[in-house]
Amino acid sequence: MTVTLLFKSDNDRPEAWVPALRQAMPELDIRVWPEVGNPEDITYALLWQPPDGVLGRCRNLKAILSLGAGVDHLMGDPELPDHLPIVRMVDPSLTDGMSEYVLFHTLRYHRDVPYYEACQRERKWHMLTPVMPQERRVGILGLGVLGADAARKLAALSFDVAGWSRSPKQVEDVASFHGTDGLAAFLARSEILVCLLPLTPDTAGILNAELFAGLPEGACLINPARGGHLVDDDLLAALDSGRIAGATLDVFHTEPLPTDHPFWDHPKVTITPHVASVTNPKTAAEQVAANIRRAEAGEPLPNLVDRTAGY
Ligand code: NAP
Ligand code: GLV
Repeated sequence: MTVTLLFKSDNDRPEAWVPALRQAMPELDIRVWPEVGNPEDITYALLWQPPDGVLGRCRNLKAILSLGAGVDHLMGDPELPDHLPIVRMVDPSLTDGMSEYVLFHTLRYHRDVPYYEACQRERKWHMLTPVMPQERRVGILGLGVLGADAARKLAALSFDVAGWSRSPKQVEDVASFHGTDGLAAFLARSEILVCLLPLTPDTAGILNAELFAGLPEGACLINPARGGHLVDDDLLAALDSGRIAGATLDVFHTEPLPTDHPFWDHPKVTITPHVASVTNPKTAAEQVAANIRRAEAGEPLPNLVDRTAGY
């Protein structure tokens, strides 16, 4: 069977994916875009952001396997065939990587590290009263695969954790809020807010002035979800007024973040270049191989994208 890897940029690392896939499934005929031969040979497409116009030409596709957890970039592709199953990337190492990022940046705000870094630059010795994790309320927007894992791990460190999702959830030691009606109460108790929502028409621009107004004064924001969740100007205004004390951003409307963007120089903004959690070809290739085997055996595929919900 033929699988094609569709890559848009060199960052997608075909040199790491091909050997990992060969090892996980030696019988695959792997072709890397643009050297795919006849597009009609292709039965599985592995992709992140497919080059324009390609999917429509692969007329014999049986499934699309996303190399990332988020599929927002795919859902807007006019060439996306509507009948095909789309499988999201769910891989323990991707989940662990995201939880590590969330824990690190939550602890950084919880322990006032940005304040002490600023003091050090001024040779200033000044102590803030420490807050116990039991008294630190962390809120996670999106309590799915990544949000629930981060929430569990924060709760294990004794933080007072809540999550917000579309449907109610049961995660041990994590308070669950859901739906539009549950948002205000969730925000009011989120001193450190983490966004792990998928980007859909319902969640685009959700990190805006109205949402910031619902947070406790001086809350911190961590966004490793998508740049499209954030209204950049609303964040800049909230940082300048002190409503938001600090923001850690991994994702942006335009990536790479343009060099003239005000976030680069803002003293209250920490930037990482979309590295919160990067799919690891070695472990993810095993998931891909297992899904192709399931599809070939006519078994149901896990982690299917719900086209109506958009994630
Ligand atoms: P997931 O398992 O699909 O979870 C999504 C969560 O968001 C679910 O709890 C869902 O609620 C909730 N949700 C969706 N729409 C909502 C709405 N309108 N209102 C309230 N809650 C809503 O996704 P995941 O695997 O955790 O991944 C989350 C996102 O992380 C991805 O989409 C991607 O954008 C981002 N990501 C970023 C990086 C990075 O390196 N920066 C790496 C990986 C992933 P229900 O549970 O009720 O459905
Ligand atoms: C990365 O951003 C992903 O969605 O996996």
